[in-house]
Formats: sequence, C-alpha cells, structure tokens
Amino acid sequence: MHYNWDSALETGHELIDNQHKQLFAKLNSLVDAYNDNKGKAELEKTLEFLAAYTIKHFNDEETLQVKYDYPDYLRHKTIHTDFKNKVTDMVGQLKQNGYDDKLMQETIVVVADWLLNHIKGDDFRMAAYVKAHSDI
Ligand SMILES: [Fe+2]
Repeated sequence: MHYNWDSALETGHELIDNQHKQLFAKLNSLVDAYNDNKGKAELEKTLEFLAAYTIKHFNDEETLQVKYDYPDYLRHKTIHTDFKNKVTDMVGQLKQNGYDDKLMQETIVVVADWLLNHIKGDDFRMAAYVKAHSDI
C-alpha cells in the first residue's frame, strides 16, 4: 500500500507542500523497504531517514510561524513535539524488538494517519494565516 500525496492535501504554501510531498515519498520508501523484505538494517535506515526529514520539516514550519507571528504557534509546536516523541518511541521499540512485522505495519499506519490529519487540520490553518499575512 502506498500513500499518495494529492491536491486535496495542498496547503497553497510552496515550501510546505513540497516538503509534504517529500514526506509521502519517504514514507513510501519505507513501505517499499518493508514489502521487499529489505531486512532490518535497511528498514532501520529508511525509518531513521523518515524521522530525520520529519524533524527538519517541523523545524521549517515552526520557523515560518515565528516569522509571521502565528498566534497558534505554541500549540502547533507542542503537537509537533508530541509526534516527534511518539516517532522516537516507535523507532526505539522497533529496534529493541528486532522489527516485528506487526509493529512495523503499525508504525507506518500511525505516521501516515497522523500526517494526513495534521496536514488537513493544523497545517491548512497555519498556511492560510501565513499566506494572508505575507501578501500584505
Ligand atoms: Fe505542522
């Protein structure tokens, strides 16, 4: 199963949208590595790659929010921090348990669902605000 970015996920902010597309591409690389039985080392590498890109993306979003004085910045940042902690926990669990299939599948679904919901809610609101305030 692949997670495809489509125009329903477009926030209208070019940098954010491009990064979201990259996140989906990286998530799909993880799905491919899993489906191809690439082995523990490859899965670990791909998962860490996805986790690192997520952190970079969150930092870029937060920088943008600070730049435009986004009123919901602290709440949005807390949501990012909670998710980063969750991903770190899942990566740790997977490493400890030697990539149990079920846990790996759950990790992929949790990351995908979270991304889809976060983009359509929090990121849409943030991008609309940034767009309105950067046109002035
Ligand atoms: Fe966000």
